[in-house]
Amino acid sequence: SHQASFDFVIVGATGDLTMRKLLPAFFERFRMGQIADDTKIIGVARSDLSVEVYRERARSALSEFSASFASDNKDAEKFLELVHYVSLDASDTSAEWRPLETLLSVNPQRVRVFYVATAPKLYVATADAIADHGLITATTRIVLEKPIGTDFVSARAINDGVGRHFAEEQIFRIDHYIGKQTVQNILALRFANPILERVWNADSIAHVQITATETVGVGKRGPYYDTAGALRDMVQNHLLQVLSLVAMEPPTALSAMDLRDEKLKILRALKPMDKVSIASDTVRAQYVAGMVDGKRVDGYLEDLGSDASNTETFLAIRAEIRTTRWAGVPFYLRTGKRMAHKESEVVIEFRPQPWAIFKDTPEPNRLVLRIQPDEGVSLSLSSKDPLAEGFRLRDVNLDVSYIKTFGTRYPDSYEDLLMAVVRGDQVLFIRRDEVQASWRWIEPVLDGWAENVRPMETYPAGSRGPASADELLRDDGFVWKEKT
Ligand code: BG6
Repeated sequence: SHQASFDFVIVGATGDLTMRKLLPAFFERFRMGQIADDTKIIGVARSDLSVEVYRERARSALSEFSASFASDNKDAEKFLELVHYVSLDASDTSAEWRPLETLLSVNPQRVRVFYVATAPKLYVATADAIADHGLITATTRIVLEKPIGTDFVSARAINDGVGRHFAEEQIFRIDHYIGKQTVQNILALRFANPILERVWNADSIAHVQITATETVGVGKRGPYYDTAGALRDMVQNHLLQVLSLVAMEPPTALSAMDLRDEKLKILRALKPMDKVSIASDTVRAQYVAGMVDGKRVDGYLEDLGSDASNTETFLAIRAEIRTTRWAGVPFYLRTGKRMAHKESEVVIEFRPQPWAIFKDTPEPNRLVLRIQPDEGVSLSLSSKDPLAEGFRLRDVNLDVSYIKTFGTRYPDSYEDLLMAVVRGDQVLFIRRDEVQASWRWIEPVLDGWAENVRPMETYPAGSRGPASADELLRDDGFVWKEKT
């Protein structure tokens, strides 16, 4: 099979993302034989470290975060030889760039990537400095981590600033949810299975739930998280991307242009939120101390080390998509930290039978796309209960566990995404207009919340979130599907 050979510069290389995700992902693909020995993975950060010390950090990151790592593993030692380090403030064009320049290949055909994993406010200065030093060849790409900005204007400024030096085809905006196999599988489910796609519309579907809950709190990320909150951290990117894959029209082909055109149409069709809908269709809350997995944990303010914060760690939103396919179908979004379970899933609930001939009211059919942790898909059906007297109904499940079916590990989402950058395939990345359209929809909610149009609530850590999230659905005659 083909081995890729490239120069991959990670700006922000001492950070959490590099250690937890990027290096383990490259290591995995190296072990699989997809990365050639002459590849360079060049860490760049301000800290004054030697290559040896950086490699040592990389080694311990692998031992902690890579399932395939073993300390006596020859592969790991070979892989670490690809890892380099340069101490440099890459947002400063007048810094000493020579050590980085000398590591980069002069071959104009060779793929060169700058992965910018620093604070978004440094993205433009970093792109400027890379350009100033003449490091952008025709085969150079730049990867931008989320969040792209903090609102519409700052997102556009980043897109404009980076776009002064890089063509859109060279810019890879990453959303790691799109890297998840189960998120990509929404495409396979919908567009390779006519029995699903035929009922994938307002005629048959009563509502859609998109949930991503976590048991972790904000940990050490408080300073970032407190300026973001759940809406910016999870909805602007991950949940709206999942929503657009669930809701989009079939693309004419699985190409970057066609797929992203269709996702964009959905983002633009989201009904704008105003003060009335923000008050009635959103819920925001912050965790207070509670119990997670039998252990007492602090509340958000203690985690943050602050006595006041107006940042939501939980939210629920009722969204509407104004298209022929979806008019009248609520899309409920929900995400939170320090919840009872770690769970990301999409629930498609179908409309009931118009006329019931049974004593029991059948439960509605639900198709559940489980993104994580136990990846799979299930469809709930009513069946005759063989154990009951007379004709009684009982719920059964058609259930596919991907892990059991394919007998394989699920690769971390960064593995696919990093190799796609190297291949130059943008289909799994977010286009400029998508980012801006989703900020356009998010921003009025941010503003409304800042004006307290919908007051902040609290919920105990380890709970299902505030009761008003349940009321949001109950008003429409629905309930959240809970983990069973
Ligand atoms: C990140 C957010 O983008 O996604 C984090 O910044 C969050 O706050 C994470 O924890 C969740 O990702 P996953 O893959 O664990 O669902």
